[in-house]
Amino acid sequence: MDSVRSVIRDLREVLECEILAGRRKASFDDPFVAQFAGVPEKRASSSAAPAAPPPPAPMPAAQMPAAPQAPVEKAASAAPMLPLAATQPSVPAPPAFTALEAVADAVRHCAKCPLSQTRTHCVPGEGNGNAPDVMFVGEAPGHDEDLAGRPFVGRAGQLLDKMIAAMGFRREEVFIANILKCRPPNNRTPTVEEMAVCIPFLRSQISLVRPKVIVALGATAYRGLKNDEKASISRARGIWDDFDGIPLMPTFHPAYLLRTPGAKRIVWNDLKMVLARLGRAPAAR
Ligand code: URA
Repeated sequence: MDSVRSVIRDLREVLECEILAGRRKASFDDPFVAQFAGVPEKRASSSAAPAAPPPPAPMPAAQMPAAPQAPVEKAASAAPMLPLAATQPSVPAPPAFTALEAVADAVRHCAKCPLSQTRTHCVPGEGNGNAPDVMFVGEAPGHDEDLAGRPFVGRAGQLLDKMIAAMGFRREEVFIANILKCRPPNNRTPTVEEMAVCIPFLRSQISLVRPKVIVALGATAYRGLKNDEKASISRARGIWDDFDGIPLMPTFHPAYLLRTPGAKRIVWNDLKMVLARLGRAPAAR
């Protein structure tokens, strides 16, 4: 029962992401949805339905969901034992998308604002998606991130890597994402409209990743998370806030620190507050 519930929950999350990306119709013979439809067909269709739908068209083997496995005892009594290799499908079922990968896929298919026309790559985000200690949220991809399709890989990213290491984490132990998933031309500040269109992706990621603490890097990240276009990062930084019940620490953006190295000490103090909340000590120097 729990596994059926978890399939249904995953399917719901995927469909929500697809809706965000503009999809309006999906059915169980859709290869995308089928990857989640490892539920026996009878349960998938509602008993209240007036008539059973026609059987779906046969799918290419490579897109087929894994067939539900019969319990071992039943299989043994119903059929003679076969060598293991003979019971395996010749084409392995594709690995199912995780709900987090489905969000990234929805981002890749998103064309809801003009930034999708000018991007080279979108940048969904990356890292430890399984309840990491920290999730860093930045503003939007810059030139390097747009080329790489990965967050924080340019100069500001190199500084963020140092901040992460000083906190005693490896980059892959935290999750890194942005308010916007596509680069604004010439790295201009995201508009309120762009943020409103894009933020549901980040909200989905946060609810799936379940970080223990979120660090908002800079004014745009803080304003986007708090849905407050007037919020001041200078006033908010260093003071615990909250995003949907998750502790939120606003601090300055690494790009600001590149221009104002004197502010590094302030940011380090903010990050030490994060470590204290997590019960961790900074990395030994
Ligand atoms: N600045 C950001 O806010 N995000 C990135 O991914 C890179 C630079």
